[in-house]
Order: sequence, then C-alpha cells, then structure tokens
Amino acid sequence: MNPFLKQAQELFPYTQAMRRDFHMHPELGFREIRTGGIVAKELEALGIEVTKGVGKTGVVGFLEGAKPGPTILLRFDMDALPITEDTGAEYASQNAGVMHACGHDGHTAIGLTVAKILNEQKDKLAGNIKFCFQPSEEGANGEEIGGALMMMRDGVLEGPKVEKTLALHLWNDKPVGWLHVAEGPVMAGADLFNITITGKGGHGAAPETTIDPIVCAAQMVSAIQSIVARNVEPLKPAVISVTTIHSGTAFNIIPQTAELGGTIRTFDSAIRQLAHQRLEQVARGTAQAMGCESEVLIKQVTAPVINNADIAARVLESAQAVFPETAIESNPYLTMGAEDMGWMQEKADGCYFFIGSANAEKNLNYNHHHPKFDFDEQALIHGVALMSAAAADLLKGK
Ligand code: NI
Repeated sequence: MNPFLKQAQELFPYTQAMRRDFHMHPELGFREIRTGGIVAKELEALGIEVTKGVGKTGVVGFLEGAKPGPTILLRFDMDALPITEDTGAEYASQNAGVMHACGHDGHTAIGLTVAKILNEQKDKLAGNIKFCFQPSEEGANGEEIGGALMMMRDGVLEGPKVEKTLALHLWNDKPVGWLHVAEGPVMAGADLFNITITGKGGHGAAPETTIDPIVCAAQMVSAIQSIVARNVEPLKPAVISVTTIHSGTAFNIIPQTAELGGTIRTFDSAIRQLAHQRLEQVARGTAQAMGCESEVLIKQVTAPVINNADIAARVLESAQAVFPETAIESNPYLTMGAEDMGWMQEKADGCYFFIGSANAEKNLNYNHHHPKFDFDEQALIHGVALMSAAAADLLKGK
C-alpha cells in the first residue's frame, strides 16, 4: 500500500476526532477564534513555527525542509455558515444558527493530519511548506474583503515567497472515492452588481405624473437575460443572475427608486469584460427608454480558480500513485460556484482538486450549504493521503 495512504488510514481516528470537534463548534468567517486556537496548538505541538492573526483569524504554520527548495502553500479553509443544522448527528453543531455545512471542518482536520505526516518527512523535503489555515472563505462577512485576500494583504504569499499552491474541497456532488485533478479552469470567478434605477415618485393613482422605476426594473430584469443567451458564445460558460430586487413602501405610492442586485460568473476574462459592458449598456439603455436614470456598480468578489497545467499533471501523478486502483477524473469539471483560492492561484501557480465525499446509502448526499449536509468521513482519508503525497512529491529533492 502507498505509504501516504497507509499513514492517512492510521491517523484516521485523529482526523475524525478533530473534524467532529470542529463540527460541534462551528465559527463564522473572521470569528474562527476557537478553531484557529486549536490549529495553532496542534501545529506548535509538532514543533512547527506558527504565526497567528494572519488575515484576522488565520493561522500559518511554517515547516522548513532539510534541503533548500521552493516554498509551497497548502490551503485549508476553516469557516462555517449561518445555517441551523438539521442532521441529527451525534456531533451536530452546539452553536445555535451556525453550521459547518460546506465541509470546511473536514478541510481543517485534513490540514492538521497532513502537517503531522509532512513534519515526519521534513528531512526528505527539498523546500518549505506553509500550512495556511484560512478564515472566511464564504465571504467577507462584514469586512471589506474575504479571507484569502485578507491573508494576502498580511503577506501570506511572501517571506519566503510562495511559488506553488495546493488546495482541496470535499465534494458532495460526487460519491466518496471519486477524485478530480485537472488542469485549467475549475471554479468560476464571481462579481456582484448593483443597479440603482431612479425615476420620479408620486401617487399610485396618477402614474402619468410619475416615472415608474418598478416598471423599468421589470423590463431590465428581462433584458439582462438576453446577455448570456444572445451575446456569449454558447460553448463558453457564463451566468448572470438577478438575485435581489427592492423598491416601494406602500400600495398607493409609486416609488422614486428601485434597486437590482445579482452576480456574474465567468471563467474567461474576455467574457467577463463583455458581460460587464453589456450589463452597463442594457441597464443604461433600458432606463433611458423608460425615462429613468440608472447607475451600475460592479465589484469583483473572487478570481476564477485556474489550475496550472504542470502542477496539475504532477498532482495527478501523485494521485495515481496513492490510488492505483482508482480512475482519477482528469477531464474538465467546471463549477460555476466560486472559491476565493482563485486570488491566491492568480499570484502563485497552483492546483485545486476535489475529493468526492457523498454516500447515498448512508444518507450523506445533501448539497453543500444544506441544513442536512454531512459527508462520508472516509473522504478525509483520501484528502489527507492525496494532499500529503502531492506536497511531498512537489518538494522531492533531486
Ligand atoms: Ni466550501
């Protein structure tokens, strides 16, 4: 048996215990005080140099290999979601209204076990490893920017400079045992937009004296649907969704303004530019036709996650060595979901891979962010084995 898989199996009780502890005590983005505290303690117990407070509540462990070489960063996200858990699990959340419904409890536990395994191998490593335990992947949570950018602002990619990155996600859309490692785009870049439509308010019974922003908003929502349908090449993925619409205060008042909000998801920067340009044109043109004015604000939330071909090929080789009997999926598998690891991979080439974690027979196949979300813990073994093998392989001395 592959030595990394063997160690991952032997250390499974530890990984599982850590995962269940994090699951019972979930913390929202930038509030991962308890989680980060445990992470720091566990890393320090291994003799790994720890820096706390990187990106508010983030924790970084630095492992220096015996031989010189590049520095690679392994990223594990720690935050939970504002969801009331409904799994009935014995290790269910004890923090009302907060739940690990995306599997980041598993990622954090995987990271700690990977640190144990690689720490034992440090004499063989030609280069260094930064264990990056990241807060607030799910969004900025009241801050100006999310966890990855916050850690980057605090210099996580510098001193020493990070040359390569690895990250993973437990993936309940696929059964446990499924593994995906591929080059190219894997997760979409996300933008958010807000459109303010200004008309002229007045009495609901006298529309002729007003300029109704609600009628304009309705036209605009329909017109926005034409952008992806009519302007984007059909074989190129893009999504524009209007997800919020706010206006009005009473049944007899035509309001002065209406607001639309939503998200744009793309992989390709040319398509992203096109979507922005058309959104602005459609908003301006529709508003003008309806006698209103419009203001469009677009903000980038995450960059797309694009895997480097060379690193992905090496991780795929590691995966085949660890799981010789598994057919590793290496065809494109794109999701329109976003992930702020895209920011780090934009600065340092990396590979982001998926670990299948669902088990329909055990009822562990709810979607991510569902109140009944839970995963098959066997996936933790796969995550630990592949992450440690891939990291060790990237730092193999000549
Ligand atoms: Ni997630």
